[in-house]
Amino acid sequence: MIQVALPKGRLGEKVYDIFEQIGMGCPSIRENTRKLIFENEENGICFFWVKPSDVAIYVDRGAADIGVAGKDILLEYEPDVYELADLNIGKCRMCVAGKKGFRDDTSRTLRVATKFPHIASSYYEKVGREIDIIKLNGSIELAPILGLSDVIVDIVETGKTLLENNLEPFEEIVPISARLIANKVSYKFQNQKITEIADKINRYIQTKGE
Ligand code: PRP
Repeated sequence: MIQVALPKGRLGEKVYDIFEQIGMGCPSIRENTRKLIFENEENGICFFWVKPSDVAIYVDRGAADIGVAGKDILLEYEPDVYELADLNIGKCRMCVAGKKGFRDDTSRTLRVATKFPHIASSYYEKVGREIDIIKLNGSIELAPILGLSDVIVDIVETGKTLLENNLEPFEEIVPISARLIANKVSYKFQNQKITEIADKINRYIQTKGE
């Protein structure tokens, strides 16, 4: 059995659709239940739903052989996993944003609110700017509005949240999308099956993109 950790929610539904399209589905997953684990013995595959930000933990620790996680999570937590495919879904950008017209006063330490302290620190280290990280867990956009921070480092998808709160993106740090990841030990010992799934997914993504 290949154990697959899927991110719960809208992205997870799209990810599961891909598995179904490549003939690795599990019909019982479509039943409207609160079950968390779904097995298809015929395909030798088992899916389970986890919080999107936890997928990489399951895969890193080997509780799942493979999984799908956002590049944001992979950059932030640097799990020790292999990245096998870019699924080309869940696309967004990691950006620096703030109040419209904000000017950075470089004589002061820049206060940066974010859910991604590692990504933010690495970025500002690279550009040589001294910062003070304010780690938040959600509604990051509130921070510059209420004067808690000067800027935010956050995910921008449609840009609507920024726009509707009189904020704007200043800089794109990195583009983000969903990635197929594999546990390193599983990749070694279940190589044939995992490679087959990754190849089928990569082919499916390529034909869809054409
Ligand atoms: C994310 C992100 C932004 C929003 C961006 O928040 O942190 O707030 O989506 O999307 P948009 O550009 O399409 O408006 P999420 O929904 O994950 O909620 P959060 O406030 O808990 O971070």
